Amino acid sequence: MRIEQRPDFQIHLQNLKSKDQLYLETIFNVANGHIGVRDSNPLQGNNPNYVGTPGLFVNGFYDYYPIEYGEKYTGYPENDQVINRLFDPRYIRIKVGDENSSVDFFKSETVDKNLDMQTGLLHEIFSVTTPEGKIFNLVVESFSSLASDNVYGIKYGVVPVNFDDDIEVIKMHSYINQATSSTVSDVRVNESEGHLQLDFLEGYDQPSYLITTYKSQQGAILTYNGKGFKLEYYKDENNHWGYHAKYHAKKGSQKEFEFLFSIGDVHPLVNAQMYADQYLAKLNEHIRHTSFKAELMASAQVWQTFWLHSDVEIDGDPQVQLSLRFNLFELHQSAGRNAHTSIPAKGLSGSGYGGHYFWDTEIFMLPFFIYTNPELAKKILMYRYQTLKQAQRQATQFGFNRGAMYAWRTINGYEASAYWPAGTAQIHINADIAYAIEQYYEVTGDDDFLADYGYEIIVETARFYMEWGKFTEIDGERRFVINRVTGPDEYSAIVDNNYYTNKMVKFNLRMVEKYAKRFENTDLSKRLSLSKQELAEIKEAADLMYLPFDKENNVKLQYQNFDKMNKINLSHIDTSDFPLLLHYHPLMLYRSQVNKQADTILADILFPKGYSDEELTRDFDFYEPITTHDSSLSKAIFAIAAARIGKEKQAYSFFAQAIETDIQNSHHNTSNGIHAGSLGAAWEGIFYGFAGVVNNAETFSMYPKLPSQWNSVKFRIFLYNSEYIFAIYEHEVRVSLLSGTGTTMIIAGAECELTRESPNQVIKY
Ligand code: BGC
Repeated sequence: MRIEQRPDFQIHLQNLKSKDQLYLETIFNVANGHIGVRDSNPLQGNNPNYVGTPGLFVNGFYDYYPIEYGEKYTGYPENDQVINRLFDPRYIRIKVGDENSSVDFFKSETVDKNLDMQTGLLHEIFSVTTPEGKIFNLVVESFSSLASDNVYGIKYGVVPVNFDDDIEVIKMHSYINQATSSTVSDVRVNESEGHLQLDFLEGYDQPSYLITTYKSQQGAILTYNGKGFKLEYYKDENNHWGYHAKYHAKKGSQKEFEFLFSIGDVHPLVNAQMYADQYLAKLNEHIRHTSFKAELMASAQVWQTFWLHSDVEIDGDPQVQLSLRFNLFELHQSAGRNAHTSIPAKGLSGSGYGGHYFWDTEIFMLPFFIYTNPELAKKILMYRYQTLKQAQRQATQFGFNRGAMYAWRTINGYEASAYWPAGTAQIHINADIAYAIEQYYEVTGDDDFLADYGYEIIVETARFYMEWGKFTEIDGERRFVINRVTGPDEYSAIVDNNYYTNKMVKFNLRMVEKYAKRFENTDLSKRLSLSKQELAEIKEAADLMYLPFDKENNVKLQYQNFDKMNKINLSHIDTSDFPLLLHYHPLMLYRSQVNKQADTILADILFPKGYSDEELTRDFDFYEPITTHDSSLSKAIFAIAAARIGKEKQAYSFFAQAIETDIQNSHHNTSNGIHAGSLGAAWEGIFYGFAGVVNNAETFSMYPKLPSQWNSVKFRIFLYNSEYIFAIYEHEVRVSLLSGTGTTMIIAGAECELTRESPNQVIKY
C-alpha cells in the first residue's frame, strides 16, 4: 500500500511558530492509546544536563507517591498517583572512531521533523557533529502502532557527511527512569516519579524486561527486536544486553537499523511475575516475524479508517483545518482502548497532571468518539464501570450509606487530588459520567451496555447525591439543595447550589427515573434493590432541584450568592498576572465574581433545550466579561454559545483560539503535554456550535451557523447504527445515508427522512 502524502495532513517543523525543545517533544509525540513516546534528541540518553523530558508512557501504568501535607486532615488522599515515565525508546548510542555519543558531547541539530497524520509516521533528520568535527546525518522514523497496541517502531539511518571511519551503533536500555533536568514551579505539572524496577529476563535472544512498580504493585513486560546492517545481539562490559553493529562507513553511504518494541499490558505484579514467560512469548512472537515496514503499513491502514469516519473537512481556512486535524489525531492517539484505561488530561504525551483522568474525558472528549467511533467510546466508558467499586468504597469512606463517589482526578479509581477545594469537592464528576452514559446510549441505542453497566452507574451516582443533598426550604418553598461543592469553575470553591452541578444532578436523577420501569423486576433491579420509596424520593429531588437565578440581572446564577461577591474588572489586571491561579491566593479569587472557565454557560450548552436565545444571550453577556479562560476547556464552549445566539465574530474568534491551544502553545504549557480536553472541545465547537447539533432521545437536529470564513464543512457521524455524511454550505445542507437503515432528523427546522430507498437529501436554509 502506498499512501500519497497530502500537505494538509502534515505537521511540519518549519510551519510551527515555536521551536522550543520541550514543546516539540509534545507536539511530535506518537501514541496509540496504550503507549506514548515523546519526541526527543535520540542521542541524549540519560544525560541530566539535557533540557527535556523524554520518555515512554504506558496508559494506566502508574505508581504512588506520598503527598506531603503541611496539615493533613482525615480523609485526605495519602498518595498521589503518577504515570511512570519509562526510558526513552528513541535513545541510541553512536561511536565514530574513538568518539562516543554517550560520553563525548555530540552536537545535534534538528534539520527537519514531519509528522504525517495520515499514517502516524514521524520522520526526522538530525545533523550531528562530533567534538572532532565529524558530521553525520541521523534519519529517524518512528510510530506507535494502531494495528497492534503493544508495538512501537523506530528506524535509524546513519549517513557520514564528511568522513570515512569506523561506526558503532549500540542500542541498549539499561536504566528505567528517564532522567530529567527540568524543574518547574507550575502547580499543574506533576514532577513526582514512581519507584520502578527493571528486571532483565534471561534466556531470550533479544533484550526483555519485567518492569515493576514498587508501591502500586503493577508489572509490564517490555521487549525489543533489532534488525539491520551487521546488527547483533550482544552483552557489553557491564553485563547489559542490547544490539550492536560495527562497520566501516563511507562518506555519503546510508546504513539502516530498525527496532520494534513490544510493550505489554499492565498486570498486577504477582501476575506479571508468574506469567512473565507466557506474556513475553506472546509479545515476542509478534515482533520477531514482522518488520518495521509491515507494522507501519498495518498501522497506517488503521489511520486511514480513522480519517475516513472521523475527519472534518473545512473549505475556507487551511490553518484551522490543519489545527483541527492535529487535534483529532491527538485525541485518537490518546484514548485508552482496553476498557481499563481512559484518556489522561495530557494524553500520553507528557506527565502533566500525573497522567490522571478527569471529567475532561466524559464532557469534552467523549462526544467525538460517541459520534465517530462508538465502539471506542464504549471502551472509554467501561473504565468508569471498572472503577465503580472504588467509587463505592470512596462513598463509604466518606460516611455515606450507599452510592458511588467518583474521584475527581485519578488513575486507579481513588482520589488523587491534593487540593480538595478544587478537587474532591467537584462532585459533579458523578453526574458528568451519568450524562456521558446517556449520550452514548442516545446515539447508539446500546441496550446491553445500559443494562449491564450503564444503569448501575446512573443509580449509584444518583444515590450519592441523594445523601449529599437535602430537602429544605428556600424563599418559603420546599427545595432539594446541594451545598458545599465546587462547580467546574475553579475560581470559586465550596459554594452552595452551583447551577451546573444542580442541573447535572437533576439530569442524573431523572435518568434513574427514566429507566426504572424498563428494569423493573429484572435481576438488575433486584441487585440494585431500588425500592418504590427510593424512586419516589429521587423523583421528588429532581422535581424540586434548586437552580439559582439572579432576578436582578435576569440570568442563571453560578451559585447561590454569587451575585454578592466582589466585582472585578478583568481589563484592569495586568496581562502578566494571567493565569490568575499562578498569581493570586485562591481566597482572593473565591470571593470575587471571576471565572476561570465556562461553568453556567457549559450547563446552557449541555442542555440546549428549554430556554430561548434571549436567555442564552443574557447569560453569555453576563459571564463572558468575567471569564479569564485560564482553563483551556473554556473558549470552545463560549464559541458554541456565541454561535447559537448569532454572535458570529466572537464565535469564530473563540473557536479559532481554542483550536490552536496546543499547536500554537497558547497556554504556554504544551511542553507538559497536550490539552486533550481542549482538543475535544474544539471538535464540539464545530459540532454543537457551527453545525448546531442538538441531540436528545427523541430527535437528532441540526441548526447550522456556518462561519463566513468557510465555504463548507463536511463530516460523518454514526447515529443509531447508521452512518451519515453531512456537507454544510452557506444556505444548504446535503446529507447522505452511507450505511444502516436511516432515520428521520430535523435539519434547519425541516423534517428530513433518510432511508435506503432515498439516502440523499438536500435542505435549503
Ligand atoms: C481545569 C479542570 C480540568 C483540569 C484538567 C483544570 O485547569 O480547571 O476543569 O479538569 O484542568 O484538564
